[in-house]
Amino acid sequence: MAGRDPEAVAESALDAVAAVAPEVRDGLPGRRRYLDGENPSGERVLAADVFADELLESALGDADGVGTYASEERAAPVDVGDGAVSVAVDPLDGSSNLRSNNPMGTVVAVYDGPLPASGRDLVAAGFVLYGPVTTMVAGVGPPGEAAVDEFLVGDGGDREELGALHLPDEPTVYGFGGRVPDWPADFAAYVDEVEDELKLRYGGAMIADVSQVLAYGGVFGYPALESAPDGKLRLQFEGNPVAYLVECAGGRSSTGDGSILDVEATGLHQRVPVHVGNAALVERLEAALA
Ligand code: AHG
Ligand code: MN
Ligand code: MN
Repeated sequence: MAGRDPEAVAESALDAVAAVAPEVRDGLPGRRRYLDGENPSGERVLAADVFADELLESALGDADGVGTYASEERAAPVDVGDGAVSVAVDPLDGSSNLRSNNPMGTVVAVYDGPLPASGRDLVAAGFVLYGPVTTMVAGVGPPGEAAVDEFLVGDGGDREELGALHLPDEPTVYGFGGRVPDWPADFAAYVDEVEDELKLRYGGAMIADVSQVLAYGGVFGYPALESAPDGKLRLQFEGNPVAYLVECAGGRSSTGDGSILDVEATGLHQRVPVHVGNAALVERLEAALA
């Protein structure tokens, strides 16, 4: 429905993602094989990635007011309606964890406008975490102002509110991606400090690692690497949504020199260095990389 309030559309989109989450989870066991070919980021694709992508396109395409669907698995955005709201989705984040039966997630970013979009155009963001239980963490509203809530996702795809999430004042955990020899020296020096203060928690799925930071306080990052100066994570459906959620939960995000939400959008699959967590830890990171 064209012209519908973007935040109301965002709520419908989040309901749609929760509604198919049990089906995504139930479809994982038989889809652990890699398919031929690569995704637009040049990475191998699991049958589960494609399965989740198709379910989510259908569910989000039926959500009132959603006009465009984009995902990690698609080269270009897909028109799914006449609304002005666009959704960018990582259908299965951390899908390499499927074979090892470790947590994974679905990430959704809801933008008021066309893609690629700036994080400042977000009207909502959320993720589903396929952990011991299936939960959703989501916020609806302007960046930096929305409340972040956690929901239990029932077997029927309903959302039961568990309460508001706010980053704990005292940080406890840290986790950084990439190989240590591939870290630039200034980032490695920052980690040397942090590892003396916090506990290492890195599980190979951004959403699960960010969930630990939201629950216990700390910092997660997939930094710029010597071999990959833009890091690994994609701005539209990984960096922007987690930056939105952590900033709304009282923390900060940074590419290394400023909020991820301020990065100019140049492409659907553009990569960006991602660091999110307690403000003091992110400020120290920016000082270390200055
Ligand atoms: P995806 O499965 O959607 O491609 O995301 C994987 C990402 C992210 O979830 C995680 O933080 C990172 O890849 C892990 O990378 P490494 O395997 O290099 O640690
Ligand atoms: Mn991902
Ligand atoms: Mn993915």
